[in-house]
Amino acid sequence: MKTVSICFVCLGNICRSPTAEGVMRHLVGEAKLAERILVDSAGTGNWHVGEPPDDRARHAAGRRGYDLAPLRGRQIAAGDFERFDLLIAMDDKNVAALREVCPPAQRDKIRLLMEFLPEADGRWDSVREVVDPYFGGAEGFERVLDQCEAACRGLIAALRPQLLA
Ligand code: 4NP
Repeated sequence: MKTVSICFVCLGNICRSPTAEGVMRHLVGEAKLAERILVDSAGTGNWHVGEPPDDRARHAAGRRGYDLAPLRGRQIAAGDFERFDLLIAMDDKNVAALREVCPPAQRDKIRLLMEFLPEADGRWDSVREVVDPYFGGAEGFERVLDQCEAACRGLIAALRPQLLA
């Protein structure tokens, strides 16, 4: 049985990447692909290792039916580049930080989340990044959720052919 393993990556692993992980787990479950698409998340920084997601991220996600409570912050580790098929970053700085520590042979695994936005979704034309909501207001967390929901749907659609091949 083919599987694909994905690690979502942001800076702190307490706002954006746990949100992407929670949304993706939910959508993968709905699509009956939980045994085929394996999901995790990590941060490029180490400030929040062992911490639960930010309260604002957890509550915003909870209002849409995603449970982030079991997740804990961790920092990306050398073995992750071997272990995962895709490392999906939230912004260009995350991509740069990952490339710095990634073995050259694994660099193609590093992608940006918004690359997976379905073309038909015109809401974020030319938006490349999921912006860090940490120092902003509540609307930033809603925007992160909107982006994660749309891009994760596109990601599942992009993965289906290779899982079924
Ligand atoms: P995240 O947000 O990268 O989406 O988890 C941040 C969380 C914490 C910090 C920065 C960004 N921080 O500076 O502590």
